[in-house]
Amino acid sequence: MKPRVVPSILSADFANLEAAIRLMESAGADWIHIDVMDGHFVPNLTVGLPVIRRIRQITDRHLDVHLMISNPDAMTLEYVKAGANSVLVHVEAAIHLQEILAAIRRAGALAGIALNPHTSVNILEEILPHCDYVLVMSVNPGFGGQEFISTSFEKVRKLKRLIRARGLEHVQVEIDGGIGPDNSAAVVEAGVDLLVSGSAIFGSPDPAATFRQMREYAESAALIT
Ligand code: DX5
Ligand code: ZN
Repeated sequence: MKPRVVPSILSADFANLEAAIRLMESAGADWIHIDVMDGHFVPNLTVGLPVIRRIRQITDRHLDVHLMISNPDAMTLEYVKAGANSVLVHVEAAIHLQEILAAIRRAGALAGIALNPHTSVNILEEILPHCDYVLVMSVNPGFGGQEFISTSFEKVRKLKRLIRARGLEHVQVEIDGGIGPDNSAAVVEAGVDLLVSGSAIFGSPDPAATFRQMREYAESAALIT
């Protein structure tokens, strides 16, 4: 499967999200990443259900919703009902993670597990068959524009080995934080399938061109790996 660049609207103009989404649609993005922060699991606060419902009305693209919230057990299904096509739940926040993942899948969305930088991939041993993809956070979640943590390469390689060893090759690997044109090829070489990128795209003078450049670097790297 070709790697996919997933623009994160966290770094877009919040007063004009529709323009940002249209721009990414025309650049060829088929997934859009939405960061939900509650000011508790992470210090920052962003958007929630009403905004996702509205975005759902204006685009048919795959909405990838990253829940950085405490107590995801209580609220995750609401995000699927609001229009998320895939939902990422932090392993550090969930109490009954298997139950949440199963509920996401039953509701017709893809179920993802997110790992903070300090969380080992070994924690996935029992839960891996219950998810569709795993997000390796390559910054501490909460803010856009942070520096990529370089040990994430080895973490992705380790996760990929675990996935292969379990015969679960359909489980995709996503990375989020500090991703841009400079490291797009390298993360794909390490095993990443889904590259989330916020500030590198929306902070650039030509976000559509930056998106396409990253996609080209990622796809070329996938051809030789
Ligand atoms: C950070 C969010 C990211 C954020 C990435 O907590 O999960 O999705 O948008 O931003 P950049 O690409 O600027 O590191
Ligand atoms: Zn995110």
